[in-house]
Amino acid sequence: MPIVPMTELLTCAREGAYGVGYFEAWDIDSLEAVIAAAEAEKAPVIVGFGGAMAAGAWLDAGGVEALAGIGHALASRTRVPSALLFNEAHSLDQARRAVDTGFNAVMLDTSAWPWEDAVTEVADLVAYAHERGASVEAELGRLPDAVEGGVDDSHASLTDPQQAADFAQRTGIDCLAVSVGNVHLLRDRLAPVDMGHLEAVAARVPLPLVMHGGTSFPPDEVPRAIAAGVAKFNVGTVLKSEFLAGVRDTVAAWPEQVNVHDILGSHKATDLLAAGKARMQLRVQELIRLYGSHGRA
Ligand code: 13P
Repeated sequence: MPIVPMTELLTCAREGAYGVGYFEAWDIDSLEAVIAAAEAEKAPVIVGFGGAMAAGAWLDAGGVEALAGIGHALASRTRVPSALLFNEAHSLDQARRAVDTGFNAVMLDTSAWPWEDAVTEVADLVAYAHERGASVEAELGRLPDAVEGGVDDSHASLTDPQQAADFAQRTGIDCLAVSVGNVHLLRDRLAPVDMGHLEAVAARVPLPLVMHGGTSFPPDEVPRAIAAGVAKFNVGTVLKSEFLAGVRDTVAAWPEQVNVHDILGSHKATDLLAAGKARMQLRVQELIRLYGSHGRA
């Protein structure tokens, strides 16, 4: 079916008291894994690609356009409602190109920018995107990142509830990503989220809220987050970990001689990436059930 506006998916999620997952893909196979999971669970889903982990030079040399082509070709053939997001664009120019080339949702990561610059550029993007039928997400506050051996919170800041309300009102964004103790890229433990702080932000901001750092978001707090107003959970790191584990197992089991055509690019069961894809699909299905979006398509 054709892709649907991200705002529509988020509105339905708020009304139905469940969360929609944005499961970040990075290539054809990972995107197919997300779509297969959503179809198996009959769940609405946000699919797409992220700018944060990809080299800026690659994205700017045709990468955004290539991802848009893959995303559009596959997302518009899903049997469940899906929106196509370009997440965490590096710049306003990149975000605009994402809209121009077929993404119907875009997020510009201005969390490290000075306040006035962030307001101006996000408002510009909202005008540009809305005119072309695309939704816009932005983030206020800055998440800590997991780094080798711990968490780097030296640049982190919590979302200020009043500032968030001003930001939403001045920019016209469709949904707001929050920083409430959630951590990006954390794999080995759960993030120390402050649910009271989330509720304080939600009390001032009427928009659907977005929780980045889905890998380490405490599963037990999902219902309370949804009750507070979180409509979208972003998940990345755990999906790459699952995918890679599947590929590693495949390679470890290889005989001495292999048929390269069966293994590389065949998209058959013998494909190098098949086991990674299958493991990733299972994890996405578990998360869909955790967020309660199964059976909502
Ligand atoms: P994780 O990699 O921590 O799951 O976060 C993903 C994310 O927030 C993408 O926007």
